[in-house]
Amino acid sequence: HTFWGIVPAAGVGKRMAADRPKQYLPLAGKTVIEHTLEHLLAAEIWAGVAVAISPEDPYWPELAISRHPLVHTAPGGKERADSVLNALDYLQDRAGEEDWVLVHDAARPCIAAADVHKLIDALKDDAVGGILALPVADTLKRVSDGSISETVDRSAIWRALTPQMFRYGALRDALRDAAAKGSVVTDEASALELQGRRPKIVEGRPDNLKITRPEDLPLAEFYLKQLS
Ligand code: C5P
Repeated sequence: HTFWGIVPAAGVGKRMAADRPKQYLPLAGKTVIEHTLEHLLAAEIWAGVAVAISPEDPYWPELAISRHPLVHTAPGGKERADSVLNALDYLQDRAGEEDWVLVHDAARPCIAAADVHKLIDALKDDAVGGILALPVADTLKRVSDGSISETVDRSAIWRALTPQMFRYGALRDALRDAAAKGSVVTDEASALELQGRRPKIVEGRPDNLKITRPEDLPLAEFYLKQLS
């Protein structure tokens, strides 16, 4: 098996309302994205990791990890899915159609190398692939106009995390199809679902949070301490 990493890191982090994209915010003595990449690289399975970076991004070239021999810089796109497609295109001469690609958000710095291995061990012989995900703890409500219309059966609902692991050719085709149809896909699995595939889920860990709001940073710092 051959494994490629793709890290979409071209978002601007609107919900963070900070002076720079959230992947460059300081976290436990480094930037968020340095933690993310160091944890991924610690899994030691990579043929290479392509990081999708906005062409106007002044922060990325300043980081030593941007020159790591396994790290490649691909151009970011308008939406997350465009960034992932660009990174897939960047890898086209290196990756084989059946190679595995693991897509992991730059904004998830607390990914444990053990969780990367858990995903790979569970799915490396699977035809389709799948994602790390978590069962939902809270009771779920369907809401419209500020009031509850029903309670949703939470036993059938999982939260999608990353990494998400699919075959190179299948992921490229699914994302291209979704783009051509104008379908909104906020993760890789949804693009494959649109093609009628059934990605598997592998239970991840609650500490694999996505930095989204300012209060996520101290939480991530706490989780990073527990991980090390
Ligand atoms: O905004 P959100 O939290 O969904 O972003 C998830 C990941 O996708 C982040 O790591 C972000 O940098 C990345 N992204 C991207 N290109 C975009 C938008 C988001 O690579 N155009």
